[in-house]
Amino acid sequence: MKDIYFPNLGVGLGLRTQHYSSVAQSSPFIKWFEVLSENYMGINGSGGGRPLKVLESVRKNYEVVLHGVSLSIGSTDELNFDYLNKLKKLSQDIQPRWISDHLCWTGVNSENLHDLLPLPATQETLEHLTTRIQRVQDFLGRRILLENVSSYITFKHSEMTEWEFLGEVSEGADCGLLLDVNNIYVNSVNHEFDPHTYLKSLPKNRIGQIHLAGHSRQGELLVDTHDGPVCDEVWDLLRLSAKLFGPVSTMVEWDAKIPDYRQLEAEALKAVQIIKEETELPREARAQFA
Ligand SMILES: [Fe+2]
Repeated sequence: MKDIYFPNLGVGLGLRTQHYSSVAQSSPFIKWFEVLSENYMGINGSGGGRPLKVLESVRKNYEVVLHGVSLSIGSTDELNFDYLNKLKKLSQDIQPRWISDHLCWTGVNSENLHDLLPLPATQETLEHLTTRIQRVQDFLGRRILLENVSSYITFKHSEMTEWEFLGEVSEGADCGLLLDVNNIYVNSVNHEFDPHTYLKSLPKNRIGQIHLAGHSRQGELLVDTHDGPVCDEVWDLLRLSAKLFGPVSTMVEWDAKIPDYRQLEAEALKAVQIIKEETELPREARAQFA
């Protein structure tokens, strides 16, 4: 897999059951939808019936990308080929532009902890991940994207920064990156680093998609709750991303206290405007970024 090219699909939204009936009346600036792979794979009692029919009809009019939460790429358990077979079948049926999951582990000894848990940034983890990502990509026959996760702890034995680790994983395994700029902001507050340094250090050609989301404060920590609008600091990080990486497929995640579809679209429209300002307008008309 030599050529790394993730097409810019524009701005999209997450497809949520609450909005199935509204999608047909989407504004023209919504160009694509991200769907949670597991909801259509026949696991946990899901997969067939109305959700799949809705997805097939959305697919007729929009690009779709698959986003998973169960790959557990960092676990020490064997890769789950039952899961991967189902993912491959869904991918063959739906023909997504790409498939993504998270750079994390979600369980061990066949126990699923239902959380996206961070990994120690060590050389040993890098080697473990590289082998597993390559096996997954070989099996699926395509390059996958992996997303940086939010975290509430760090590891004393980490040997590099989170951004160095992300860059090393993507280069070593030859995979793409799904950059969640809200997760970068959340971690920058929780672990006291500069999010600008993070963004400026990433390999530009590996970034295939951007996530935006809201978070909440719980005591001293920011928590990635996806239950509200995107905050100003995260919009600023999207602005810097557009400046650094050019236009990248971007979507808004909103998974709790889900608003009506028009409010979600309004949030996506802000992303459209910011990306346009930073990548299409003449330099003197662009907002200044400190
Ligand atoms: Fe995300």
